[in-house]
Amino acid sequence: MTHIFHRSPSSPPAIAVHGEGGFIHSADGRQFFDGSGGAAVSCLGHGHPEVIDAVVQQMHKLEYAHTGFFSSEPAEKLASLLASHSPPTLNNVYFLSSGSEAIETTLKMARQYHVERGEPQRRHNIARKLSYHGNTLGALAIGGHVGRRALYQPLLVQAHHVSPCFARHYRQADETDDAYASRLASEFEQLILELGPDTVSTFVAETVVGATAGAVAPVPGYFQKIRAVCDRYGVLLIMDEVMSGVGRTGTYHAFEQEGVVPDLLTMAKGLGGGYQPIAAVMVADKVVDAIVAGSGAFQHGHTYVGHPVACAAALAVQTIIQRDQLVQRSASMGQHLRALLTQRFGDHANVGDIRGRGLFQAIELVASRDPDRPFDPSLQIHAKIKRQAQQVGLLCYPGGGCIDGVHGDHVLLAPPYNSREGVLEMAVDRLGQAIDLVLNETAGKSGT
Ligand SMILES: Cc1ncc(COP(=O)(O)O)c(C=O)c1O
Repeated sequence: MTHIFHRSPSSPPAIAVHGEGGFIHSADGRQFFDGSGGAAVSCLGHGHPEVIDAVVQQMHKLEYAHTGFFSSEPAEKLASLLASHSPPTLNNVYFLSSGSEAIETTLKMARQYHVERGEPQRRHNIARKLSYHGNTLGALAIGGHVGRRALYQPLLVQAHHVSPCFARHYRQADETDDAYASRLASEFEQLILELGPDTVSTFVAETVVGATAGAVAPVPGYFQKIRAVCDRYGVLLIMDEVMSGVGRTGTYHAFEQEGVVPDLLTMAKGLGGGYQPIAAVMVADKVVDAIVAGSGAFQHGHTYVGHPVACAAALAVQTIIQRDQLVQRSASMGQHLRALLTQRFGDHANVGDIRGRGLFQAIELVASRDPDRPFDPSLQIHAKIKRQAQQVGLLCYPGGGCIDGVHGDHVLLAPPYNSREGVLEMAVDRLGQAIDLVLNETAGKSGT
């Protein structure tokens, strides 16, 4: 009997009791390889002794001090470390406890920036269809995944959505990457002009789209064209790297591969690696300067921002990532993982795409490759694969609706950066087993 209101109360999950390296053990004696680090969280795997030590030591020193009264040593050190690994304009850090809080914070920070500069009419936030930015109402409102928004639609504040940059499904057959990127930038500019060129506050985008579309990177030059439109109309560029940041895609910040620097950057999952709930917004000097020169204080805050123990955990995680060169390892092991996926699924009749960057890789399932056709969404192929993979000892992160919020099934892998080659081989093998079992069973039932 459980008293927890579980995600699916009719099928409560197994109880996890122990974690070590890439593996989680459940109370009923099973062992699972954490091939997605939960939701791309556990970048160092489980039970890292140095992070545990850092948390315990901080608990002995100081468990909590409200940021209305104090800063703390681990928070100061962590902010300095993050600034030292970022472009010179991204020099300021605001800590939070979740990715959704970080996104909410960027929207408010941008709004206050415009007001302080004498532009109170700037109120519109523009984001992209298919994106996910969190589940609190503000973050859900700018998210563009129809399935996740539908139930709460009447509660959501106004936000505007342009097309995603998803070449596999939306670049036209005769279009170059450059022409596709230009078309998307024009669509964005057109929307700004329709809303009123001096009324737009932000453009929000995941650098590499994670949960909703499955490791979708932009075409080359896309973000540069978007940045140029933002600059032309005084719009702040917010890049959401809650999932794709902190080394996950093979560079410390995912935006480093795009040749642009955002005005506001969110990061979360790989920041604390799951050892504590922590997120951050990195803020451009011009935003801080405008607020300091104006009212003097950012009108926002939560009880647990800059929590000393969370910052101590994240400081240890980030120090280890730097010391052990794990960003480079994410890049090189990512290539290995891609090669394994290509070997196993490159010719698979039901795999239409293999994509991603670094240790952020996904496959997209199709009912047929030629013609390219997704599965009927009612089959819930992604959910069946998740269950079957767990049965064979693999935790992965499948999702549905990657094409348009309804159609399309994908499976995301995001293993720890310190994974060894052998466990990645095992993970791909288990994923192959799970997919084939589900597809055979589905074909059997439909008589195909
Ligand atoms: C890109 C992105 N932004 C925001 C969030 C929300 O983060 P959280 O679940 O910590 O609130 C997520 C979570 O998956 C995410 O992937």
